Amino acid sequence: MNSIGVLTSGGDAPGMNAAVRGVVRAALGRGVEVFGFRHGWRGVISGEGVWMESGTVSGILDRGGTQLHTARCPEFRERVGREQAMENVKELGLEGLVVIGGDGSLTGARKLYEEFKFPVVGVPGSIDNDIAGTDYSIGFDTANNTALDAIDKIRDTAYSHDRVFVIEVMGRANGFIAVEVALASGAEAVLVPEVPFSLINICDRLKRQRAKGKRSSIIVVAEGAARAADVADFVSKNTGYETRYLVLGHMQRGGSPTAFDRVLALRLGAFAANRLISGFHGEMVGVYGDKLVANPLSYVLSTQRHIDPDRLLLVEAMTV
Ligand code: ADP
Ligand code: F6P
Repeated sequence: MNSIGVLTSGGDAPGMNAAVRGVVRAALGRGVEVFGFRHGWRGVISGEGVWMESGTVSGILDRGGTQLHTARCPEFRERVGREQAMENVKELGLEGLVVIGGDGSLTGARKLYEEFKFPVVGVPGSIDNDIAGTDYSIGFDTANNTALDAIDKIRDTAYSHDRVFVIEVMGRANGFIAVEVALASGAEAVLVPEVPFSLINICDRLKRQRAKGKRSSIIVVAEGAARAADVADFVSKNTGYETRYLVLGHMQRGGSPTAFDRVLALRLGAFAANRLISGFHGEMVGVYGDKLVANPLSYVLSTQRHIDPDRLLLVEAMTV
């Protein structure tokens, strides 16, 4: 291969810049040129982007967000949009693409591979950590630490006022962030979309804890499980305890990536470029434990990743 493209797509995740750096420097090291598309699939359809030098990816390792920008691009879901994208890719002389994003972006990559036999390699970039074929997706660790920092601060004021705080974290379809930060913050309860819950049981738990002298509590809610405002209202009415709520929202997607995410992203980006250039296509790179792996996109995108039930049970077990 002489030249490849790279893009970041879908929801941004801290560490995407490090992944792009990994792709660009690994490819340049093998004498392969890299075109960086702007605004995800939208840029591939419009041809918007830039040829990347080694210096283009200097000074971005510690930056949150994505310097290449990202977007949701409904046009790419249509065959005609993908045909337009293929025309641009061919015109630029690109022989393969590294796609950094969540399962939606990777589904788009899979379609290019299956419909046009175009060489692609995916890199899992999403704070949600809901992508199969890897233990961690880029941005999950940073998002956890950002949410945790906020919850630790809330814990101070909850303690001072003897209040219950309900904190909503991201996770439209899953509770990976919710469970992780509930454990790390010592929350009294966690609600996730995957598992049915009883708010009455949670209120009873809070009452038992008050009876033992614990006067403030934290409940972590994944956005896909319930609205923090509704949970707070229910808890307040059913316990009589002063209750407040907070929605952490998009702040969880921002900020400088942790060391873990930077190293993960660099390794995955460089590995993806090397796999693509070496002729391995239609796959997504990932990590199992500390080992780099590659799985077919067909497997990754047809496999559901589940939260760890032991972690969920541990949250409750820690509230005796
Ligand atoms: P994420 O990549 O974070 O999961 P989205 O689900 O919004 O984010 O997907 C990002 C983009 O990937 C979409 O805007 C669209 O351009 C492309 N995409 C998503 N699903 C498909 C699909 N089924 N077919 C083709 N392209 C898709
Ligand atoms: O990045 C994934 C995610 O954070 C989901 O947990 C959340 O529901 C969604 O993105 C919101 O993204 P946006 O506001 O960009 O559509």
